[in-house]
Amino acid sequence: MDRFRIEGPCRMAGRVAASGAKNAALPALAATLLARESLTLRRVPRVRDVGTMRRLLEHLGVRGESSGDGFLFFPARSDAPSDGLYDLVKTMRASVLVLGPLTARRGRARVSLPGGCAIGVRPIDQHLAGLEALGAEVRLDHGYVETSAPGGLRGTRFRFAMPTVTGTENILMAAVLARGETCLENCAREPEIENLAELLVLMGARIEGAGTPTIHVQGVDALGGGEGTVIPDRIEGGTYLIGGLLTGGDVTLERARPGDLEPLADQLAAVGAVVETGADWIRVAHDGVLEGRDLETAPHPGFPTDLQAQYMTLMTQARGTSRVRESIFENRFQHAAELTRMGADVHVEGDLATVHGPTRLSGATVMATDLRASACLVLAGLVADGTTIVDRIYHLDRGYESIEEKLGALGCAVERIPGPPTP
Ligand code: EPZ
Repeated sequence: MDRFRIEGPCRMAGRVAASGAKNAALPALAATLLARESLTLRRVPRVRDVGTMRRLLEHLGVRGESSGDGFLFFPARSDAPSDGLYDLVKTMRASVLVLGPLTARRGRARVSLPGGCAIGVRPIDQHLAGLEALGAEVRLDHGYVETSAPGGLRGTRFRFAMPTVTGTENILMAAVLARGETCLENCAREPEIENLAELLVLMGARIEGAGTPTIHVQGVDALGGGEGTVIPDRIEGGTYLIGGLLTGGDVTLERARPGDLEPLADQLAAVGAVVETGADWIRVAHDGVLEGRDLETAPHPGFPTDLQAQYMTLMTQARGTSRVRESIFENRFQHAAELTRMGADVHVEGDLATVHGPTRLSGATVMATDLRASACLVLAGLVADGTTIVDRIYHLDRGYESIEEKLGALGCAVERIPGPPTP
C-alpha cells in the first residue's frame, strides 16, 4: 500500500484544472449497458474507481477502449453474463449502479450486495424499492440481490424516502426503458444527476426535471449511442480551493463549473476568503484571519458531505469555535481522531464535531480510512510543521486524478512511497 510523505508547511498557490467528476463518470459508465450503438464518453478521470467500473463492464459484455480524454464503448455482447462479480463489487459500492440498466435492458441482474463502508451502513433499500415499483421482482439471496423482469419494466410513480444520489441514478436508468410514464419524487438534485440525464437524452431517452426533486420519464423502446462529456469534479476542485485557503495561499480552479461550487464558495466567503468567479473558473485566496464558521452538510444544493472532512481541516486553522454537523452519513468523522493526533482540537459527539482553533498542527504518521478523509489528511500535512506520512493512500487514488502532479504545480510537493500491492 502506497504512502504519501509530505513536508509542511507549504503555501498552495497557482492554477489547477478540474478533472472529470468521478461521481458523474460512474453512472455514465453504467449507462453504456443501455446503449445499442457505440457510446463515447469524454473527460473521464483516470482514477481507480473508473478502472474498477470498466472491469465490471467488460465482465458484463461492454468493451471500451481509450479515446482521447475518455473512452469509446461498444454495445454489449448479447451472450454476456448479467452477474456482477463479487470481487469487483466488494471494492466499489458504486457497482450497484449496474442494477438498474441490466434489469431494464436484459430483464435480469445479479449483483452482490455492497457491504457497508467506513462512513456508514449505506443500505440500498431505495434502489430495490424503486425497481420493484417498476415491476421487477427483487430477491436477496446469500449476499446477492437478484432482479427479474422478463416482461420488461412498466412506468410507475415512486417517491424516494430520502434524496439518494445513486438511488436516483439507478432508478432513472431503469425507467428510461420502462413502458409508459414514470414519475420519480423526492429525487436527489446533485449536478451529477443532471449530467447523467443529459447523456441518456442524447442516447434517445425522454426525461424532464433532472436536477429538481421531481423527474418525469417517458419510456422508449431502445437507446442508441452518441457522445457525452463528464462534468468537472466539484469535490476534487473544492478540495484544492480549501487547500489554498488553509495554507494561506491563492488557488484558481480552471475548467470548472462555478455554479456547482456555490455552496462551498458561500461558506469560504463567510470564513473570510476572497472568492472570485468567471465563466469556467473560481479563485479562492486567503485574506488575513480565518473565522470559524458552523457547518451542516446536506443534499445538494446544501454543503456537500464529500467536502466535510476537508472543511474540518480548515476549521483547525480558523479563529474560534466551529460546529460541524454531518447529516448524511452516520460515521463520517473518523478523520477527526487523526487530525487530533496532529494537534487539532476536535471533539466529536454523535453527528456533531466541535473544532477550536487555530491550533498548530505538527507532522505525524496518519491513516486514511476513506476517500475524502484521506484528502483531509493530505491537506493537514500541507499546513503542519514537519513531516506527515499518510498511509493507505489507495483511498485517494480512487477519486483524485494525478494528485501529486496537481499539488506539485501548486507549489506543494508530496512524495509517493511505494508500498506492497493493495489487496
Ligand atoms: C453518493 O453516494 C456519492 N457516491 C458519495 O460520494 C456521496 O457522499 C453521497 O452520494 C452523498 O452525496 C457516488 O455518487 C458514486 P446516497 P450514495 O444514496 O448514492 C441513505 C465519494 O466520496 N440511503 O445519496 O451511496 C444513505 O445511507 C462518495 O465520492 C438509504 O438509507 O449516497 C445516506 O445516509 C462517498 N437507503 C443517505 O441516504 C438507500 O437506498 C444519502 O446516501 C440509499 C441511501
